[in-house]
Amino acid sequence: FGTSKVNEKGNLSIGGVDTAELVKEFKTPLYVMDQELIETTIDKMKEAFQSNRFDTQIAYAGKAFLSMGMLKLVDAKELDLDVVSGGELYTAYKAGFPMDRVHLHGNNKTMEELEMAIEFGIKEIVIDNEDEIDKIEKICREKGKKQAVLVRIDPGIEAHTHHYIKTSGLTSKFGISLFQDNLFDIIKRLNDNEWIEFKGFHTHIGSQIFQSAFFIFALDEIFKYLDKLKKELGIVVHTVNMGGGFGVYYKEGDDPKPIEEVLSEIITYTEAMEIKYQIGFKELCIEPGRSIVGNAGTTLYEVGGIKETVGGKTYVFIDGGMSDNIRTALYQAEYEAGVVNKLSDTDVRDITLAGKLCESGDIIIEKGKLPKSTEIGDIVAVTTTGAYCYTMSSNYNRMMRPAVVFVKDGKAKVAVKRETLDDLIRNDEIFEL
Ligand code: LLP
Repeated sequence: FGTSKVNEKGNLSIGGVDTAELVKEFKTPLYVMDQELIETTIDKMKEAFQSNRFDTQIAYAGKAFLSMGMLKLVDAKELDLDVVSGGELYTAYKAGFPMDRVHLHGNNKTMEELEMAIEFGIKEIVIDNEDEIDKIEKICREKGKKQAVLVRIDPGIEAHTHHYIKTSGLTSKFGISLFQDNLFDIIKRLNDNEWIEFKGFHTHIGSQIFQSAFFIFALDEIFKYLDKLKKELGIVVHTVNMGGGFGVYYKEGDDPKPIEEVLSEIITYTEAMEIKYQIGFKELCIEPGRSIVGNAGTTLYEVGGIKETVGGKTYVFIDGGMSDNIRTALYQAEYEAGVVNKLSDTDVRDITLAGKLCESGDIIIEKGKLPKSTEIGDIVAVTTTGAYCYTMSSNYNRMMRPAVVFVKDGKAKVAVKRETLDDLIRNDEIFEL
């Protein structure tokens, strides 16, 4: 992917930096982010996601990968930012990210989170359910501040993706169903509210979606509803945000459409719908996470042991595992891997790449291939770990979270320091027995 290639020494290099050297300097496990790939992906998306019928805006979904340095990049590229917790919001605030480009999500935002968001003056809060309206109204009244909101709509589209990462359907925990009887009342209430500026609709149908038709189906439902809203209540919305969820390549057999094609398709359809319904909305927004950072990330591990089981399964043990990448255990995710100085060695065998944590399910790759010559001390690179790996990492088994380095033009910069043993005990209190 991106700037990854085999260099003159026969080693994997990313961003012009030899991964064998990276490991010497930063140790393993290590998350390596190809900065140029992130930047060129954003540029391609911005180029494709434009229309002369309405404004467009791309918001980066921080849950995929967030750090203060990453936020500087997102800011420099003039993207908006989607946050889902007080923690993500605070990180953005501390990084100096412009608050008037932040959207807050969540199906159960706490009063503290809502207060923080309203105090910071963020661009919009995406209302997930009716209870939230009371909360926002109360805070706004107390602070004497008006807040812009979108309403998250569940259009009832069941996308073909893993059950855990579907977010739409009639039993979803997210959003207000388009089929809910009182949706009109909710919208009227928001539209007439002196403390709330009702700006429009949001929807997000799931993640790692390959068939772009699902996005179009969701948009179609939204537009039909907007048409009804305009005709029956005379309400014209400003914004339609259709969320993220664009699928990326992980392993052989995955064949995602290039993101720029998916986005142009969405623009074409939205323009057609706009012509058909004449809604008069002003802004179309998307919120991609994985498709911005997924392919840019590679995790480097050191091989610590190889076990041939009596049952005929061969394990290659690495010095990380589900604490730095829980996606295989959680979603049966599949990855590809190679040994960084043996990428051209085609004499491979079947292996299972397993971590060092105390769980049989601590697997990164269940059915993988590595060279027969793989041995202790080798460095294994697992690709496409840029999204939902660092952000879902944990200290299970008191593992220390790895460092994250950004590489570009032959230089490596630390984005997140490696945790230390003392970080692990920082919040522990020894109390009297
Ligand atoms: N907007 C909303 C409201 C979302 O809930 C999400 C993802 C996104 C945008 C960004 O979706 P993306 O473009 O990254 O697919 N941990 C799972 C993925 C969970 C996605 C949650 N929401 C995984 O590792 O596959």
